[in-house]
Amino acid sequence: MKNILCIAGDGIGPEIMNSALEILEVVSKKYAFKYKIEEEFFGGASIDAYGEPFSDKLKEKIENCDAILMGSVGGPKWDNSKIRPEAGLLALRKHLKVYANVRPLKVEDSLCYLSPLKEEIVKGTDLMIVRELTGGAYFGEPRRLEEKEALDSITYTYEEIEQIVRYAFETARKRRKKLTSVDKANVLATSKLWRKVVEDVAKDYTDVELEHMYVDAMAMALITNPTKYDVIVTENLFGDILSDEVSVLGGSLGLLSSASYSKSKIALYEPAHGSAPDIAGMDIANPIAMIYSLTMMLRYSFSQDKMAEDIENAVKLVLDEGCMTKDLNSQYYVSTSEFTKKVIQRLG
Ligand code: NAD
Ligand code: IPM
Ligand code: MN
Repeated sequence: MKNILCIAGDGIGPEIMNSALEILEVVSKKYAFKYKIEEEFFGGASIDAYGEPFSDKLKEKIENCDAILMGSVGGPKWDNSKIRPEAGLLALRKHLKVYANVRPLKVEDSLCYLSPLKEEIVKGTDLMIVRELTGGAYFGEPRRLEEKEALDSITYTYEEIEQIVRYAFETARKRRKKLTSVDKANVLATSKLWRKVVEDVAKDYTDVELEHMYVDAMAMALITNPTKYDVIVTENLFGDILSDEVSVLGGSLGLLSSASYSKSKIALYEPAHGSAPDIAGMDIANPIAMIYSLTMMLRYSFSQDKMAEDIENAVKLVLDEGCMTKDLNSQYYVSTSEFTKKVIQRLG
């Protein structure tokens, strides 16, 4: 029996979590996969319930779970809270020590037309961002915010960079053996160290083709030549920004799933997008990033590759029928719940 901790969070979080759990309920029977769901408030919902975004109750439940499935956090309601929902998310990632955030994007041939890019540019895109998740500008000290001045710090140690870079080389080895390391080594000291570490680690992975890119040039190259890339490794802040860019190569931010790994067994699975307050409660959110976060969990935490493949195939079949949510087709679209029902029928 596997214990899955579900933290739906805020905005569209509960809607897309529902969708993933309905699908899991159906498909798990087919594969006799036994699991138990624990739920807990997180982010803004936890501020409302307990006065803080990341509660001790959640910490306790983490102790007893095998994997964590998360929706999204944040929203205008809490933008001026003493501790914001997003701070809870960073605290959760730090608590779990999930240093490696993996965000894969594959554009299926039959779905190229959904991309804002020309078909000949996007066709064949199959890449993965490996984002450092527990260091850099997000956690650097000192930091302060005053009336007329503010300060943030970017810090990285050799060891922090080495562990994510090794992870990325290992990942590239299992894929097409190409690694692009993204930095701003023409300006930032942390990036100069980053590049040195990448060069040092590369000596152990001579079978992997390595390329360095500055982040500004990378932002351009992802749009002009996305098929060139396989695994892209970068620091926390650059990875955040490039992820949203990568997501729309396939047509929508609502397609990009993610998994975050630590050295311990518990991993965190969450869509790359946010709580989308502009569409929350309207039953029009795209649940695919959430569903694919679930399939990443089934594969990597529970070794249920067949089950994951089944779900992903069902999603693709439904999309191939032209059945999709509003973000992908604003003219003829189905609701989140209708899309979920269609996937379940396909699984039938
Ligand atoms: P967002 O990702 O929530 O939304 C950006 C745009 O994409 C919006 O127009 C939204 O409607 C659309 N969108 C996002 N996901 C979608 C989906 N599944 N289906 C259809 N459309 C989708 O980013 P934002 O508006 O900048 O941020 C909103 C809140 O979410 C903020 O509080 C932010 O801090 C938070 N946030 C949380 C996470 C997370 O929990 N991991 C990630 C990013 C942003
Ligand atoms: C993401 C989000 C978070 C981040 C925010 C909500 C703190 O944008 O998961 O990509 O910047 O990491
Ligand atoms: Mn982001």
